[in-house]
Amino acid sequence: MPERAIGVFDSGVGGLTVLKELLRQLPSEQLVYLGDTARVPYGTKSPGTVLRYALEAAAFLAQRQVKMMVVACNTASSVALDVLEDRFSLPVVGVIEPGAKKAVELTRNGKVGVIGTEGTIKSGAYTRAIQALDPAVEVYGAACPLFVPLAEEGWAEHPIARMAAEEYLAPLLEHEIDTLVLGCTHYPLLKNTLHQVLGDRVALVDSAEETGRVVAKMLGSRSLFRASVPCCPRFYVSDVPTRFERVGGAFLGEVLQGVQQVSIEAG
Ligand code: DGL
Repeated sequence: MPERAIGVFDSGVGGLTVLKELLRQLPSEQLVYLGDTARVPYGTKSPGTVLRYALEAAAFLAQRQVKMMVVACNTASSVALDVLEDRFSLPVVGVIEPGAKKAVELTRNGKVGVIGTEGTIKSGAYTRAIQALDPAVEVYGAACPLFVPLAEEGWAEHPIARMAAEEYLAPLLEHEIDTLVLGCTHYPLLKNTLHQVLGDRVALVDSAEETGRVVAKMLGSRSLFRASVPCCPRFYVSDVPTRFERVGGAFLGEVLQGVQQVSIEAG
């Protein structure tokens, strides 16, 4: 079992920010990544549709005999994590709880902002996870849909990104948040822009980084660390790989090789 790969899935390229963290924190692990590029974005779809997509993506990874599954997509983690844990008899890690835990640790004034897709914010998943840890923490959410295309366009530090950030974050600053959870796979790319708008008084929580730590801990507690040297990660996508290879290379910071198109829709 320890020699098996860790499966990671996302709606598209964004989850590569989580994969990057896993590669950094767990260089001895074999990783398999699935991007559901034929059906991206998940962030604007209904919870029922996202759940169906997530189940199909997870089934694809389970068929590849992974030892653990990481739901890198915040939107999918928000609506599907419980069902995935029930349906699959292997550890499933989402990105919400790790980010929520870090936010509770970091906040000094008990006012936390969460930014994400429409789906993630509407689900209230971060608010529930944060308040389950500390009911006194006030959570303010803001959907920031423009950040996803800006990051994919390579415009994360463009003046347009800065203007969008000022608009989206103004209401959160009015609530005097001192901590902001980056509740979407793409947002770590916007860290510099967000920091410029928020200043030093607001701590940023990168869910990808925290998820890497949770995965490492879980592997340790279940004696699942791999002993043999891994090959490079394997990449699967549900649409033609061209765009994934181009945009994903920038997300991961290295050239993506051997990306394979697969069909993941259940009959
Ligand atoms: N991966 C998604 C998330 O983290 C963002 C892109 C999408 O909407 O599918 O919520």
